[in-house]
Amino acid sequence: MQYKRILLKLSGEALMGDLQYGIDPKRLREYAEDIKAITDKGIEVAIVIGGGNIFRGVAGASKGMDRVQGDHMGMLATVINGLALQGALEDAGIPTRLQSAIKLNEIAEPFIKRKAVRHLEKGRVVIFGGGTGNPYFTTDSAAVLRAIEINADVILKGTRVDGIYSSDPEKNTDAVKFDYITFDDVLSKGLKVMDTTAFTLSQENELPIIVFDMNTRGNLMKVVMGEKIGTKVNV
Ligand code: GTP
Repeated sequence: MQYKRILLKLSGEALMGDLQYGIDPKRLREYAEDIKAITDKGIEVAIVIGGGNIFRGVAGASKGMDRVQGDHMGMLATVINGLALQGALEDAGIPTRLQSAIKLNEIAEPFIKRKAVRHLEKGRVVIFGGGTGNPYFTTDSAAVLRAIEINADVILKGTRVDGIYSSDPEKNTDAVKFDYITFDDVLSKGLKVMDTTAFTLSQENELPIIVFDMNTRGNLMKVVMGEKIGTKVNV
């Protein structure tokens, strides 16, 4: 296998499946099964999940609201998704721990780097909820930050698209998919992989990112086995 310890970034929207908002139990089960397949191979898995599936549902209510207030709602949404994912993973027979960046002691462990690493070494999947614990940061930033802290080999960004294209493939039929691309080329071509804060943090720490389609069953396994799936961003 190509990677020993991975940080899997899942979008909240992906959890919606075919629903308008919220969590699709079928999608959750599929993700859990795909994650189980790689933990069975001995790969250490940490997960950061977004909150857009829940936050979008309340976005109307948050219109005109203070940014910090909205970001706090988003952070709580990631904990809700983390709990859902934890339940699904444990149903699939995977031991897990949920660590939160914001104090929710009755619900989740606090984020403690050394404890997270210990859990991973013991074969537990660690889910990081609550983003970075700060407003003005995205869950992509949380994913990069946690990946660096736990010394992950790579960030696997699971999305709806199967990689990074030269332009938007939904609008431009000439769009070309990259198998590999450097951090510098992503920036010079003005391509969008993550928000700037998250992307430069990854670049500065030479942490590779693989963007791939998580919604095709078995892709996660292929990525960790080193098959050319998606697009790999590297130095
Ligand atoms: P090891 O000691 O390394 O085996 O880890 P462990 O997670 O099994 O030990 P611990 O005794 O710390 O945790 C036992 C259970 O309590 C686990 O399910 C933890 O997720 C949970 N737990 C630990 N600390 C907290 C906390 O502050 N809040 C909540 N809600 N749960 C916690």
